[in-house]
Amino acid sequence: MEDKVREIIANHRGEESKLLAILHDVQDEFGYIPRDAMKIIAEELGMKPGEVYDTASFYSFFTFRPAKHVIRVCNGIVCNLKGSEEIIKAIEAKYGIKDGEISEDGNFLLQVVECIGRCDGPPAMLVDDDSYGNLTPEKALEILRRYEE
Ligand code: FES
Repeated sequence: MEDKVREIIANHRGEESKLLAILHDVQDEFGYIPRDAMKIIAEELGMKPGEVYDTASFYSFFTFRPAKHVIRVCNGIVCNLKGSEEIIKAIEAKYGIKDGEISEDGNFLLQVVECIGRCDGPPAMLVDDDSYGNLTPEKALEILRRYEE
């Protein structure tokens, strides 16, 4: 994790207000802002960890705990042509989350991704390491029910 966080910080070197951009990239990478990432960011930017936390906690789109399950819905071209956006909308509506967000109960993180190598059965999604293809919105929600707590 540490190497990735340092790489993200390095990508923003020289930018004026880079803290938010760094936090966004960390959230995208890990699905949340790990405590250790805040320490590294603070160290690299010459801030106190509390200052990084204060900034991050001001914005509702940053989260500080990992989700139990990660849903990755493919919205690559093949899946998109077969209706992946309807699946994304159904998941967003059911669990009250958008791309990059964690459900209120901490159970699901939703990530919309480009291609998960299931172009043979579009539209497709991954739940953790399990892959599912030929989805409809109903089928996707039925699958996700199995991962509810
Ligand atoms: S485009 Fe969706 S799996 Fe490849």
